[in-house]
Amino acid sequence: SDPDLVARAQAAKAALGERVFVLGHHYQRDEVIAFADVTGDSFKLARDAAARPDAEFIVFCGVHFMAESADILTGPGQQVVLPDLAAGCSMADMARLTQVEDAWDALVEAGIADAVVPVTYMNSSADIKAFCGRNGGVVCTSSNAEVALEWAFEQKQHLAGGGKVLFLPDQHLGRNTAVLQLGLSLDDCVVWNPHKPNGGLTAQQLRDAKMILWKGHCSVHGRFSAEVVDELRATIPGVRILVHPECKHEVVTKADLVGSTEFIIRTIEAAEPGSSWAIGTELNLVKRLADAHPDKHISFLDRTVCFCSTMNRIDLPHLVWALESLVAGEVVNRIEVDAETEKWALVALQRMLDLPG
Ligand code: 13P
Ligand code: SF4
Repeated sequence: SDPDLVARAQAAKAALGERVFVLGHHYQRDEVIAFADVTGDSFKLARDAAARPDAEFIVFCGVHFMAESADILTGPGQQVVLPDLAAGCSMADMARLTQVEDAWDALVEAGIADAVVPVTYMNSSADIKAFCGRNGGVVCTSSNAEVALEWAFEQKQHLAGGGKVLFLPDQHLGRNTAVLQLGLSLDDCVVWNPHKPNGGLTAQQLRDAKMILWKGHCSVHGRFSAEVVDELRATIPGVRILVHPECKHEVVTKADLVGSTEFIIRTIEAAEPGSSWAIGTELNLVKRLADAHPDKHISFLDRTVCFCSTMNRIDLPHLVWALESLVAGEVVNRIEVDAETEKWALVALQRMLDLPG
């Protein structure tokens, strides 16, 4: 990176001292990770943000929904900054509050809303989290989706037909967790398409389903394919396939190991020297793992380059601008969730933080 920008970032961080705390998601660029006080997956970063009550400014190097969650979990005197406001998430954008409310109305109409617990992936806007908080639901991340789903089904186990889950917005994480970890069948899952009347489902299909999956996906993880898994197994002897649960079901079922970005890092750290791995997650992280472990053979599970374009919007120039503005007394790109949304989103986030494990 540009040595002048590196020096400016160092100087601005030094000038702010303990007043600023910089969080970096594992998918961030190396030039940004170099200035992060902590790195983590979305679950760890949510906890880390909440554990820093003394920092006046939380600079979140990640995407918009993560910065919103940090704002919800931090105190009133703390301000959260997202260095580039265009760092959104295409998956989070696939579930809008009005669409989710329409879906809920359809569940009421089908006579099943009382049996449904809404569960939203962290990768969703604060108002969707608030919707879950208000309706007895919970937030989950890729590190705790299994316990969150178990908790959700337990809430309604007293009902004659048992409970159901409305899982937002990532159909893949929902399906992979329900089928591979909770032992449900693919037939127990239906997909709600917000662009079709009644989600493209009949009331009977809704009544029969255990998991109602929102039709959302991650454009980055959605690119990994079962064919490339087969191809790599044929060309790299003994290769182990390690993927994120946002990948399609057919990819996850062909993989050796599946888990969040923290799990992927821990797995590679613990792997024996000389072992071969193909990793299906965002490319900044895979490259960093390959650089950090030259004694292991690490390849990317795709033929083409696939960065998360919105994660990549946070670069060193944006970080320097955000930090220098703070030094100058100006809080730029503040992320502030309104009080009512915050109150209910916190209920759903707190239920997640209180889950066992
Ligand atoms: P985790 O950080 O929970 O592994 O999620 C990956 C992701 O896609 C974040 O946007
Ligand atoms: Fe969203 Fe996927 Fe990028 Fe994560 S990797 S921020 S889920 S688009």
